[in-house]
Amino acid sequence: MTLRRPSVVRLHARGEDFKIVQLVGQLFVCTKANGSCCCGWDVKGRMPFDNALWSEEWERRRIRDRVHLSFVGCLGPCAVGNNAMLILHGRTTWLKDLNDPALAPAVFDWIEAMLASGSVLPAPSALADHVWQRYLPAPDGAEPAFELAGAGVSGAADEDAFEGLDPVCLMAVDVATAKHRAEHEGRTYAFCAPSCKKMFVADPGSYLSGAASRAM
Ligand code: FES
Repeated sequence: MTLRRPSVVRLHARGEDFKIVQLVGQLFVCTKANGSCCCGWDVKGRMPFDNALWSEEWERRRIRDRVHLSFVGCLGPCAVGNNAMLILHGRTTWLKDLNDPALAPAVFDWIEAMLASGSVLPAPSALADHVWQRYLPAPDGAEPAFELAGAGVSGAADEDAFEGLDPVCLMAVDVATAKHRAEHEGRTYAFCAPSCKKMFVADPGSYLSGAASRAM
């Protein structure tokens, strides 16, 4: 098994050092439970949904270590909600009119296809009427004249990126003091919670190797 070596950024906050794994992308879903003013409101003609519609698909596909899911309040273009915004492979895509439960798995199918291909793919036919671009392109010469931590590393690998990290959710954990631990191929892994340990023990290779070997 080839170990996956995620790229990490070392950051300092509140007097402590942290190792943060860089992501391939993030999906932001506007939800009533998180303070939307229109999305998810049936009285405003939008499909009501529980956040589980999105989170269960996300968890089932085991992509949380590459694509983060965030539930948010109003993203802005309320008139065309339900709305979501996807950032993947450095490209932002907006999703509108998500008023059919079948669209959530379609969005994740598309995300998984782009993860597998390592590229930005056209939206599949099921999503063709739902994608659009809200942001203006950057003007010529808009490249920042300053460095951001982690910018421009293009997936540079950390030789021991899993050291001090829960390999499932990628939260920082101390293997010496963690309550939840598991052995795998002679190494001890620590977990933030029993749920992460359970998922890891069921299929360690899927978290330690590349995405291509992941089982559904
Ligand atoms: S309430 Fe969802 S975009 Fe405004």
